[in-house]
Amino acid sequence: MPAFNIQNYLKERGSLVDRALDRYLKGSEKRPQMLYRAMHYGVFSGGKRLRPILMLAAGELFGGKHKLLLPFACALELIHTYSIIHDDLPALDNDDLRRGELANHKIFGEGMALLAGDALLTEAFHLMSRPQVVQRLRPKLVLEVMHEIAQAAGVGGMVGGQAVDLEAEGQEVNIATVEYIHVRKTGALILAGARVGARIAGASPKELRRISRYGEFLGLAFQIVDDILDAKGYGSDREGQGEGRDKEGKKATYPSVVGLAASQDRVRELLQHCLKEIEFFGRDADPLRGLARYVVEQVA
Ligand code: IPE
Ligand code: IPE
Ligand code: MG
Ligand code: MG
Ligand code: MG
Repeated sequence: MPAFNIQNYLKERGSLVDRALDRYLKGSEKRPQMLYRAMHYGVFSGGKRLRPILMLAAGELFGGKHKLLLPFACALELIHTYSIIHDDLPALDNDDLRRGELANHKIFGEGMALLAGDALLTEAFHLMSRPQVVQRLRPKLVLEVMHEIAQAAGVGGMVGGQAVDLEAEGQEVNIATVEYIHVRKTGALILAGARVGARIAGASPKELRRISRYGEFLGLAFQIVDDILDAKGYGSDREGQGEGRDKEGKKATYPSVVGLAASQDRVRELLQHCLKEIEFFGRDADPLRGLARYVVEQVA
């Protein structure tokens, strides 16, 4: 077996996801035109597609077909896109830039950015519940994975985490609170990506437990990495200049509570936990292994 190349994997799976998203989001010519344009700008402005690629990787491990996985993978990416459009709004993080380009609301205005986020969230569920998607799988399974994605996106997951993140601004917080925030605002969608991929592909309960622990460790690691990048000036808005927006916004971050070195140690430790959980699957888990390393090796 040739050595696994994560860069090629990301490129190939990323373009599968891009093409599927393009098919699902057809209609930029349609009215309401500004809403479609704002949705398109959010979805096609340079995202890494980590969550959908993770879903494909977890699905592939258990023999899942791309055709079955892609609607759910794309739905997760639509939810992620909504979450960052809203995250950048003045009422939340007040960021003018996203991925080095103007944030959605800086181009389309706050009202339209708000609505683009609303639309993307709703379209995600519209996509997963399409008759042609439901027909290809067991209806009960479709309902269960949609329930899981709703849980991950909602009060018990991303939105709940964002709420505590907002409340924690400017407050003294301990590391347990930071982890509480991180596991929800970011970890939940990543965990859902891994689990839903495995479930659609028919993983056994025991296999799913391993994938779940892998997803939990990776989700937490991902947000700590994001915090470290921001603290080093490589946040979503700038490129290696000074410190990032988290400090200005007095955000509860991992480095602000335990420092950079301990944050890096934690990330390395989480990577080892990820790798240990999937050791059992051997070389078939190379994509999952590669993804975890790719996330962590940006900073540690
Ligand atoms: C950024 O996530 C928002 C967080 C949850 C930290 P990503 O870094 O996955 O965003 P894109 O889509 O690839 O830009
Ligand atoms: C974002 O966390 C988590 C979301 C749910 C969008 P951050 O606020 O740290 O993400 P960035 O740094 O703006 O991408
Ligand atoms: Mg935020
Ligand atoms: Mg932010
Ligand atoms: Mg951040």
